Amino acid sequence: MSPIIVAGADGSVSALAAVEYAAQDAARRGGALRIVYVREPWAGVRLRDLDAIEQDHGAQVLATAERRARARVPDLEISARVATGDVVNRLKDEAERADTIVVGSRGVGGFAGMVLGSVGLGLAGRTPGPVVVVREAVADTRGKVLVGYDGTEDADVALEFAFAEADRRGAGLEAVYAWRPPSFTSLGAGYDNLIHCVYEERNDFVRQKFMAWQGKHPNVASAQTGVSGHPVEALSDMSRTADLVIAGCRGLGSFAGAMLGSVGHGLLHHAHCPVAIVSADVK
Ligand SMILES: Nc1ncnc2c1ncn2[C@@H]1O[C@H](COP(=O)(O)OP(=O)(O)OP(=O)(O)O)[C@@H](O)[C@H]1O
Ligand SMILES: [Mg+2]
Repeated sequence: MSPIIVAGADGSVSALAAVEYAAQDAARRGGALRIVYVREPWAGVRLRDLDAIEQDHGAQVLATAERRARARVPDLEISARVATGDVVNRLKDEAERADTIVVGSRGVGGFAGMVLGSVGLGLAGRTPGPVVVVREAVADTRGKVLVGYDGTEDADVALEFAFAEADRRGAGLEAVYAWRPPSFTSLGAGYDNLIHCVYEERNDFVRQKFMAWQGKHPNVASAQTGVSGHPVEALSDMSRTADLVIAGCRGLGSFAGAMLGSVGHGLLHHAHCPVAIVSADVK
């Protein structure tokens, strides 16, 4: 079956950026775009007039989104539908029948100044395929896919997706391992050597694992970098010149049961380009 990319549309500018991204993603994969508007029923209230107004509104949201997708990719196979219920749950259902789900970082709700709405955060880590969160329409192509790679199992899944994305886009791939010295190093310089050794050992492990992946994808120009610093800060900064930044759901530090680690969470708030969160084990 050909790939299906779902985009959530709610009439916001950010959602239209998500629809455009999803249309291009579907085109790159030779797949189809499905645009979904979720109508949230007002608690217990059903009025016939209101029903008609809401239906009309949903149809308009979908029509605008479809026009935008078509303008980006004229010959794309596009379907559009209204679902009813809780937005995150309905989009999660849609994502379970799709390859990727794309949403805007913001919607029509929230408040001025808020950077991330409840939908992107609610979906990340809870769908079998990647969740892509898009802030604004992307005007130019930078030719780089960025991925946070720390050698963990979740990061392997993210890296595999990153290689596939870079390949589809004809872009380069940069894998970044950011490492923070433990807090006790600020107490004195006596630990410098020890810290350096631990860092080198960890970085070597990550580099070796990365090189094994690199060997499997000789068609993608790829590189691995180790940096000292907070992964969110490093990746967000580097995302200024990337087309997509990718992270796994959880890393080494996350507690069992957490749906999204701090790196994915931080990137959703701070990245300067679209963010993909890839889950390793959601069934
Ligand atoms: N009713 C909806 N139907 C389909 N997709 C939606 C719907 N609401 C939101 N989305 C998707 O989620 C994205 C983010 O919207 P979200 O609702 O999270 O932010 P918000 O409206 O700014 O804040 P809030 O969390 O307070 O609603 C939108 O750009 C859109 O892609
Ligand atoms: Mg909303």
